[in-house]
Amino acid sequence: MTQDLAHSVRPSAEARAQAEGWWRSAVIYQVYVRSFADSDGDGIGDLRGIRERLPYLAELGVDALWLTPFYASPQADGGYDVADYRAVDPLFGQLSDADDLVREAHRLGLRVIVDIVPNHTSDQHVWFRAALAGEPEGAARARYHFRPGRGAGGELPPNDWESVFGGPAWTRTTGPDGTPGEWYLHLFAPEQPDLNWDNPEVRAEFESVLRFWLDLGVDGFRIDVAHGMVKAPGLPDIGRTEQAKLIGAQVLPFFDQDGVHEIHRGWRQLLDSYAGERIGVAEAWAPTPERLALYVRPDELHQAFNFQFLTCAWGAGPMREVIDQSLAATLSVGAPTTWVLSNHDVVRHTTRYGGGEQGLRRARAAALLMLALPGSAYVYQGEELGLPEVVDLPDEVRQDPAFFRGDGQEGTRDGCRVPLPWSGGAAPYGFGPGGSWLPQPAAWAQLSVEAQSGDPRSTLELYRSALVLRRELPGLGDGEMRWLEAPEGVLALSRPGFVCTLNTLGDEVTMPVPGRPVLATAALEFAGGTVRIPSDSCVWWAV
Ligand code: GLC
Repeated sequence: MTQDLAHSVRPSAEARAQAEGWWRSAVIYQVYVRSFADSDGDGIGDLRGIRERLPYLAELGVDALWLTPFYASPQADGGYDVADYRAVDPLFGQLSDADDLVREAHRLGLRVIVDIVPNHTSDQHVWFRAALAGEPEGAARARYHFRPGRGAGGELPPNDWESVFGGPAWTRTTGPDGTPGEWYLHLFAPEQPDLNWDNPEVRAEFESVLRFWLDLGVDGFRIDVAHGMVKAPGLPDIGRTEQAKLIGAQVLPFFDQDGVHEIHRGWRQLLDSYAGERIGVAEAWAPTPERLALYVRPDELHQAFNFQFLTCAWGAGPMREVIDQSLAATLSVGAPTTWVLSNHDVVRHTTRYGGGEQGLRRARAAALLMLALPGSAYVYQGEELGLPEVVDLPDEVRQDPAFFRGDGQEGTRDGCRVPLPWSGGAAPYGFGPGGSWLPQPAAWAQLSVEAQSGDPRSTLELYRSALVLRRELPGLGDGEMRWLEAPEGVLALSRPGFVCTLNTLGDEVTMPVPGRPVLATAALEFAGGTVRIPSDSCVWWAV
C-alpha cells in the first residue's frame, strides 16, 4: 500500500548525525557479530563482513547499530567473557577493522554502539590469571569476589547463590600443588568471574576502557548486566533455590542493588565529556518499570531496554497495560521508553507469538505497534526478515553455555543466533564464502534479503516502509500518545496526525475508518465508512 513511499527522500547523513537528542527516537539495529556476515569464509561473522553490509542497514532506514562483543575472548559465552577489552578477537578481525567500520558507518549516517561487559571478565583475563596465581587476601584477588568456603574443610560454597546459567554461582580454586583453596563468584559461567566494583582499580580500569572506545569514535555503549555490578553487603544467603534467570525480574541480593546507580552516574559524566551525544543503554532486569526507570534518570543512562514489553503476552489487555506502565515510569524521569521485541538471549518473537503463519502475522503487527510507540526501538538482526527461532538444532552444534550447565536456563539461546540468510538457494545463503557456524534451515532460502527485496508483501519491505514513514511522519518517534476508543481486543493509539490500530483477535473486526491508511500488515476491506481489519494485524493511518 505504501511501497512508493519507501523510496522517497531520506535525510542526509549529516542532517541525521547532527540531530539533537537523536537517541530519544532512534531505531537501533542489533548486530550479533558472529551471525551477521562472514567476510573470510571461516563460517563466523566478522567486522569486515558488517562493513560490507552497511549499505543494507542504511537502506533499511535504521539510525544506529549495536554490535555485540567482538573483543579478545575464549568465547565461553559468545564473547561475553572478555579477556582483553581493548583488543579485537582474531575471529572477528583486528582493531583497524573496528576503526574502519565505525568510520564507514558514520559516512553513511549510522551511529555505532558497542557492548561493554563490566560485571565479569573472562577467566583468561590477565587480572583473573593473576588472582588465581596470587595469595588469598592479596591485591590481585581483591578485584574479584574470592571467599573461603563453608564447612569444616571449606568444602561448601560461601553462600547459596546460583548461577544464572545453572549450578552454584561459586567455583573452588585449586592451588599449584593440587590442594583446594578459596572459592570465586560467577553469576554466569565459571569462565566469567564477577568483578568487585567496590575496588577503585576496577572502576578506573573501566573508565579507561570506555575512553579507549570513545576515542575511537563509538557513539555509545550497551552495558551488559548493568543491574548486576553491585552485590548486597556481606553476600547474604537467599534461602531458596531456583533463584535467578537471565530473563527475570526477581528481587535478589546480586541484581538491581541501589549501588549500581552511582556507577552509571559516573559513566554518564564521562559520556557527556565527549562531543556528539554518546549514549549508555542499560541491559537491566528490574522487578518493576519504576525500578527500571531509575537507570534512565537525567544524570544516569540514556536508555534501558524495556523487557517488560518483550515478555508481554500477545493481547490487547496485557499490551496496553505494559505500554501504560512503561510510559508512565519513564515519563516520571523525563526519559524515552526503549522498546524491544527480540535479542540474542530470547526466543525470536515470531516463534514466541505462536510460530508458523500466526506467529509471523503477529510479529509483523507487533513490529508496527512498536515502531508507532513514543520513544526509541531496537530491531534484532533477522526480525526484519521475519525469521523464526530455529528449534531443532542438533545438540552437537550448540554453543550456549546455559545448554551445558543443566537446568538453570532452558539453554535455547543458539536458536535465535543462527546466521542470517542474505541470498541464493542453498546454505549459507550468502552469509559468507564458507559455511555457517550454526546450520541454517532449508526454508530460509525464501526468507533471504534477496528473496524478500522488492516483494511488497514481504516482512523486509514492511520494515523498510515503516522506517521511512517513521522519519516522514512528524508525530512518530519521541513524543506523546493517547488511546482511542476501540472494539474489544483492538488497540487504537493516537499521535499527532497519526493513528495506529492493532487487532489482536483471532477474528477480523469492523470499525469506523480512522484516517487514510499508509501502511498495513494485511489487506484491508473498506465499505461505507467502515474498515474490516484482519485478525492479528496492525494498520498505520494518517489523519
Ligand atoms: C547478558 C548478555 C548475555 C550474556 C550475559 C552474561 O545478559 O546479553 O548474552 O550471556 O549477559 O554476560
